[in-house]
Amino acid sequence: MRHLGILTGGGDAPGLNAVIRAAVKYGVGQKGWLLTGIEDAFDGLIARPMRLRRLVPRSCGGLLQRGGTILGTTNRGDPFAWRDGKNHAHDVRVELDRLGIEGVIVIGGDGTMRIADRLMREEGVPVIGVPKTIDNDLGATDQTFGFQSAVDCVADALDRLHTTAESHDRCIVVEVMGRDAGFIALHGGIAGGADVILIPEIPWQVDRLRAKLEQRRNLGRPFSLIVVSEAARPLHGEVPKGRAGQAVVDALQAAEPELDIRLTILGHLQRGGSPNATDRVLATRFGVTAIDLAAADRWGQMVALRNGRVVGVPLAEAVRANRVVDVDGEVVAAARAVGVELGG
Ligand code: F6P
Repeated sequence: MRHLGILTGGGDAPGLNAVIRAAVKYGVGQKGWLLTGIEDAFDGLIARPMRLRRLVPRSCGGLLQRGGTILGTTNRGDPFAWRDGKNHAHDVRVELDRLGIEGVIVIGGDGTMRIADRLMREEGVPVIGVPKTIDNDLGATDQTFGFQSAVDCVADALDRLHTTAESHDRCIVVEVMGRDAGFIALHGGIAGGADVILIPEIPWQVDRLRAKLEQRRNLGRPFSLIVVSEAARPLHGEVPKGRAGQAVVDALQAAEPELDIRLTILGHLQRGGSPNATDRVLATRFGVTAIDLAAADRWGQMVALRNGRVVGVPLAEAVRANRVVDVDGEVVAAARAVGVELGG
């Protein structure tokens, strides 16, 4: 009987449990394989005894809609350079062999995929990757699960902030996640009707923001919503990490002391909670394709959405480069066409 392991690594994202559920229902329920969950990412592989749990279809009740990951996760911990200063990668291979686990489905972002790729190349651990991140910045796939749920969270927040900003004639700055890419800000901002969207790919200039606020005031709209991606930065000057939204507030307040302005940081609200329907479907397709790749012994591949189809791509390709917003692309053009100010 075939026996696989499965783990989740890096920051969580809505849909992780839906991938696990799909792999269990298909791999165990339909194919009759054994599937062992490895807890807390690579921590579970390095602990002795390994932290493992047998996954069966009966234990999948409610997983489709459940946020987080039942296996636990961490973004600290690389078997090649562990916290104790040692390299545990070879031990991982030996222990998996001893347990009869022939390969591991690794669900994670770019950092996790890099470790999986290295485990396969240097230690011969057979792996299949499944891409996850709310940031949607993995190069090899058109979309990662978790992204659309994060965008929904931003849109919902903007709907709520719209009414209070309008009531008080205020400017509300909303800082969102995205790491070095502006996808969450751009898509969430468009969906929530933001007046200004600032993304790392387009450095902002305070004069352009002021001009937009002024234009709105002249149109009888003395309130504004400004979405700021966490790595957005001004054209001139530096912004310390974690201060992207505050930097916009400070720049506007310095230029217009009378401006009534507030900052909201959405933070981990964007990662928690249930995956939306789109992410549930994508996660299910990814989980099923991961099992298909293992069935075909296509180790060293990552599942990816390419032109509407879920396929396998080499892990090495998947870890090569991260994606950022195409500033000359159609989505940015659409934002501009409906009057959104992008700051630069
Ligand atoms: O990569 C996902 C992400 O949520 C980023 O958008 C954000 O910068 C980062 O993780 C936050 O990570 P942590 O879990 O360390 O707070």
